[in-house]
Amino acid sequence: MAESYKHRAVPALDVFKPDIFKDKVVFVTGGGSGICYAVTETLMRLGAKAAIVGRNAERLRGAADSLSKATQSQAIATPADVRKIETLQHAVKQTIEQFGKIDFVICGAAGNFMAPIEGLSPNAFRTVVEIDLLGTFNTVRATMEEVKKSHGNYLHISATLHYSGLPWQAAPSAAKAGVDALSAALAVELGPYGVRSNCIAPGLIAGTEGADRLVPQGQDEMVLGFMPMQRIGQKDDIANAAVYLFSEAASWITGQILVVDGGSVHFRGPFLPYPDSVLDTKSFKSLFPGSKM
Ligand code: COA
Repeated sequence: MAESYKHRAVPALDVFKPDIFKDKVVFVTGGGSGICYAVTETLMRLGAKAAIVGRNAERLRGAADSLSKATQSQAIATPADVRKIETLQHAVKQTIEQFGKIDFVICGAAGNFMAPIEGLSPNAFRTVVEIDLLGTFNTVRATMEEVKKSHGNYLHISATLHYSGLPWQAAPSAAKAGVDALSAALAVELGPYGVRSNCIAPGLIAGTEGADRLVPQGQDEMVLGFMPMQRIGQKDDIANAAVYLFSEAASWITGQILVVDGGSVHFRGPFLPYPDSVLDTKSFKSLFPGSKM
């Protein structure tokens, strides 16, 4: 039987020009940890300066220091709660005082937990929708005048949860569906100002709070079996997609959702053993009456 082939995730600097984002300024909600920290680090390695937004000021300052040290570029901590627009307006003001402009915005702050609908109070549902969807709206409202001036670019970190009904994920599914819709409306309203708005919908990414919460313990192998590219995603996979969407190579791409999930969204589960049934088709011949294989 053939072995499954796994492409590796490559760092952005293996592919893109090192100064591609020289002099660009990126404002990142959720930039203090997880996927958005890694995306910010990559943009900084490619020349950008960053303002990272999160609720915990002390943790955020630690993250900004680590980013600056790791990249030879500059990150500042601009604490805010995306649920409160006045705190974001203050963060934008700090960013402008420090860097003079905002070119790119990443709306990445998110909240999630596993709970069936019957286990969700209205406040629990509201909390997730307020962080993910209202938080994205607030971030857009607080930054859009600056982004219009720089003819810049929005990137929203969405999800694939809502492409089908997923148990125990009703609140984030509803919220991310709203984020996709908001991004499309933004693309249409700000396109004439030279501003683009796109989403990345990540699949399961290693080393994130999302993966820790969503994969049942000890089920890693079972989950990998559902992924056409045969490996869990890495933060570099998302960072590379972000670099492309922010770059001028994507200047005619707006209002889109780029799914970065190793093809998982196209595979709804094994009605045949997977991946064995595609790696060794002949062994499954008996399952196809009249097969000419
Ligand atoms: N199941 C059901 N309800 C839950 C829950 C769970 N696992 N966790 C929290 N809630 C409910 C709370 O009970 C509360 O509702 P209530 O007032 O009716 O009791 C509501 O959600 C708000 O909880 P609270 O802890 O006050 O909110 P918070 O603002 O401090 O925290 C969360 C926000 C709940 C989203 C929290 O998980 C969080 O901050 N996560 C941050 C990071 C994250 O989730 N990252 C993952 C990205 S994929």
